[in-house]
Amino acid sequence: MKYLIAPSLLASNFLKLEEEVMMVNDSVADWLHFDVMDGRFVPNISFGFPLLDAVAKVSEKPVDVHLMIEEPEKYIERFTSAGAASISIHYEATSHVHRAIQIMKESGVKAGIAINPHTPVSLLDDVLEDLDLVLIMSVNPGFGGQKFIYRTLEKIRSLKESIIRRNLDTKIEVDGGIGLQNAEAVLSSGADILVAGSSVFRAENPTETIRRLKSIDMDTIMV
Ligand code: DX5
Ligand code: ZN
Repeated sequence: MKYLIAPSLLASNFLKLEEEVMMVNDSVADWLHFDVMDGRFVPNISFGFPLLDAVAKVSEKPVDVHLMIEEPEKYIERFTSAGAASISIHYEATSHVHRAIQIMKESGVKAGIAINPHTPVSLLDDVLEDLDLVLIMSVNPGFGGQKFIYRTLEKIRSLKESIIRRNLDTKIEVDGGIGLQNAEAVLSSGADILVAGSSVFRAENPTETIRRLKSIDMDTIMV
């Protein structure tokens, strides 16, 4: 699979939200990343169901919902009916990871688990085969525009190794501090999906930045 680019709406201009979604529609981006924060799991509050409803209606790209909320299993069905194509819940936010994955599968959405920078990938060993996605956070969740944590590259490599060894189809998504300066390093470590917020929406030319993020030649870099 050619890797995917998922611009994160969190960094967009909310006063021009429709234009921002249209920009993503008209770009070579693959998904639209949608960050939900509850002010409890993370020290910030972003947006929820009504906004997802509105955005999903105009988005031509599948909406990839990242739930940074406690007890996420309670809200999976509502996010699915609001238009999520994939949902990632945090491993650290629930005691019922396996049950949450079942709920995601039953509701027909792609199932993902996100992990914070301090959480080892090995904790996912027993659910890896049930997952469509693992979202590795490369910053502490809660805010856009933070610095990429380079230790993440090691986590990507080790997760990729187990996915290949076990012959699974689970994809690795990486989120936080990604831009043209480090996209190649993240991809060559084994990432399949790159989330990019400020590097896209704060760029002088967002469409062109997405195109450049999407045009990294994987044949010339070692995976
Ligand atoms: C952070 C969010 C990210 C954020 C990424 O908690 O999960 O998706 O929007 O933004 P950048 O790319 O600016 O780090
Ligand atoms: Zn995110």
